[in-house]
Amino acid sequence: MTGTEEKVLQLQRGIREAGPGVMDRLDRPLRDLRISVMDRCNFRCPYCMPEDKYHEHFQFLKSSERLSFEEILRVAQIFAGLGVKKLRITGGEPLLRPNLADLIGDLSRIEGIDDVALTTNGILLAQHAAALKAAGLSRVTVSVDSLDDDVFVAMNGGRGSLGRVLDGIDEAISAGLTPLKINTVVIRGVNDAGVIDLVERFRGTGVIVRFIEYMDVGTINHWRRADTVPSRELLERIASRWPLVPRGRNYHGEVASRYAFEDGQGEVGFVSSVTEPFCGSCTRVRLSSDGQVFTCLFAANGTDLKGPLRAGASDEELRAIVEGTWRRREDRYSELRASIAPGTEKVEMFYIGG
Ligand code: GTP
Ligand code: 5AD
Ligand code: SF4
Ligand code: SF4
Repeated sequence: MTGTEEKVLQLQRGIREAGPGVMDRLDRPLRDLRISVMDRCNFRCPYCMPEDKYHEHFQFLKSSERLSFEEILRVAQIFAGLGVKKLRITGGEPLLRPNLADLIGDLSRIEGIDDVALTTNGILLAQHAAALKAAGLSRVTVSVDSLDDDVFVAMNGGRGSLGRVLDGIDEAISAGLTPLKINTVVIRGVNDAGVIDLVERFRGTGVIVRFIEYMDVGTINHWRRADTVPSRELLERIASRWPLVPRGRNYHGEVASRYAFEDGQGEVGFVSSVTEPFCGSCTRVRLSSDGQVFTCLFAANGTDLKGPLRAGASDEELRAIVEGTWRRREDRYSELRASIAPGTEKVEMFYIGG
């Protein structure tokens, strides 16, 4: 086979796996859109929105500055036309946005979208789960950093109640928002001792716990590499108690690596963006609640869509902006982390929803 034939075959294989669509400079297709519907949050996790900065006088966006549901829907339709298949609703805390189920209903009916999921801190989930499911939400991911009350409260800035979050999880499962996933950000010396408890509690329940390496997102969490617990370390700790076998990815670009319990009691996942970056298959784009498009979780700047939307841009014009933004994309922050100067400007994570 000639070099050219081999390249063509490789390309075809890539397209079969990822499907056609607009490609960025590193040949990554656009597949997942994460929509932040609310910059506010009712938690103050020190690693994301520390209380001393996000205090009662902090100026969050005004309602009129956030995209309306009509505007979000229009933008999502444009993205779907460019190859997006999965939507994830995020915040801040997305359940603080009034009437969210109405938006979910509209988003889930967009042609070409086959998965609409929500990431939440779970504190308001019990009261909303049934309506979200009825509207068309497929599943939820709930952040739970610890099952120890004191550690849980310390990690959300003294705001939450573990009991209410666990009730939210139960309600979501009853409503059919499954497979339900739990996200646990692991910080050395803070909650790493509770990892086994989390696995033990949810093993065999159908809930998938995923441990996320603590990352240097934003500019305010004073991240140090030593605070990150490498997934490999957690994997070994868990596997020595319950043997694990690796599982393949569910879809091209999945961020978590999956491991099944050998005894058939489900699976756990690891999001290892510090020790094993996955930028090479990163198909995600993020829309902030005020209509900026970010092509990386660690980007300093976004591309404004709200201005053009409110100035009366046509679908074609909006499509051209989005397509151009993706085609120019060459972000791969996690792969370059070691060579990027500390203190480099980055968007805050709560603003684009992680
Ligand atoms: P699934 O659709 O269930 O596979 O969800 P997901 O893993 O894409 O979404 P989720 O919000 O649960 O992502 C898990 C966590 O992984 C996020 O909250 C982030 O902390 C991290 N993460 C997600 N996407 C990226 C990414 O593109 N880059 C980096 N560095 N981290 C990411
Ligand atoms: N590192 C890793 N994950 C984080 N999250 C928020 N901040 C960080 C960080 N610095 C997680 C939240 C939630 C998801 C949206 O992102 O815990 O699960
Ligand atoms: Fe809120 Fe989630 Fe940030 Fe915690 S991590 S402050 S729950 S947006
Ligand atoms: Fe994607 Fe940026 Fe995360 Fe890399 S660091 S996986 S490019 S969002």
